[in-house]
Amino acid sequence: MTDLHNKTFPTRAVHAGERTTPSNARPVTTSIVPSVSYTYESMDDLDAVFANTQPGFIYSRYTSPTVAAFESAVANLEEGEAALAFASGMAAIHAALLAAGLQAGTSVVSSFDVYGATYSLLTRFFASMGVSTRMVDGSDLAAVEAALKESRPAVLLVETISNPLLKVADIPALAGLAHGYGAQLLVDNTFATPYLFRPLVNGADYVIHSATKYLADHGDVLAGIVVTSVTNRARMFETNKLLGSNLGPFEAWLALRGLKTLPLRVRQQCNNAAHLAGWLADRPEIAHVNYPGLISHPQHALAERLFDGQGMGGVLSFEIKNAVRADVFRFMEALQLCLPATSLGDIYTLVLHAAPSSHRSLTAAERERVGIREVSCAFRPGLRTRWIYRLTWSRR
Ligand SMILES: Cc1ncc(COP(=O)(O)O)c(C=O)c1O
Repeated sequence: MTDLHNKTFPTRAVHAGERTTPSNARPVTTSIVPSVSYTYESMDDLDAVFANTQPGFIYSRYTSPTVAAFESAVANLEEGEAALAFASGMAAIHAALLAAGLQAGTSVVSSFDVYGATYSLLTRFFASMGVSTRMVDGSDLAAVEAALKESRPAVLLVETISNPLLKVADIPALAGLAHGYGAQLLVDNTFATPYLFRPLVNGADYVIHSATKYLADHGDVLAGIVVTSVTNRARMFETNKLLGSNLGPFEAWLALRGLKTLPLRVRQQCNNAAHLAGWLADRPEIAHVNYPGLISHPQHALAERLFDGQGMGGVLSFEIKNAVRADVFRFMEALQLCLPATSLGDIYTLVLHAAPSSHRSLTAAERERVGIREVSCAFRPGLRTRWIYRLTWSRR
């Protein structure tokens, strides 16, 4: 540390107080480290960190201590070797697809009922780069196998619990199929969370999260993360050093803080969703409820097997009987405390109308094929939902 005595006022204003924490005193909680760059006593050390022969930090587009702490925590919960955090869930999906080998001339097979932007990333963005996508019903193993056999894709992409139809993917079976046809299995585990299910332990190659949702879950962080092998992470890391869609330290700190209550929140939200799904299913105004916890759900038994009694997910979706778009809008406006919003990641109860929001980028014909109707709404119960039982609304 340079002696600042006898230095000018402007010099002291810049340097005073910096790098003064004793090296043997460790803060109990992870600190936010906003520093963009790092300095070492010896240039040889810096060179060794650049060469990856010595651990350390170089520049925050590469990684930083707070982000590394978040990555290490999620890798641990997902039981994976390593993780890389991104500025959003979409950046994470994009990075994983590239690392898994998508490039001009390759192809991908994907569940058709994936998040709307994921659907568009494949069918618009990657398509424009010469990657072809085959969309199938991920819950139909015979259809998936037929598509794999025909396309011989680099990647099979599914969501463990799909957004917003809440279909459950048989990850162990899909991993077997994907590997049998030379594809890597990428699983978006956002809706299941590692609390309910860990895809890597069940054969997946990459696990992706929109950490914006359950992992952080306070509605104040946009973040994404991919958990995979050390080798795959290194591939994503090298690409992202060039692309720079990395997570910032403030967001990483908030996400890491959110993670601490993940089991408590998910358990409560699963309970609330189960009660609400059962209640809605009995209402005469409701045409249909999608929730893996309902015995009527086509993958109910699979969900019981995969999620091992931990819960059936904290999101449900439903359709209002004989409604048109205007009725759905009136319903959403009539809600109290429950917020009509554009995300499903918060401690508040949120309701989202898929057609004009999360799946707006799909054409009406695409939505029809996927099974998302004009009147499909997704409910994401927060930590307090019992009041919803008193919910009523009138049609104008
Ligand atoms: C299942 C799923 N995957 C990915 C994303 C994209 O995540 P983000 O909004 O953090 O980019 C979302 C967003 O809603 C999602 O629901």
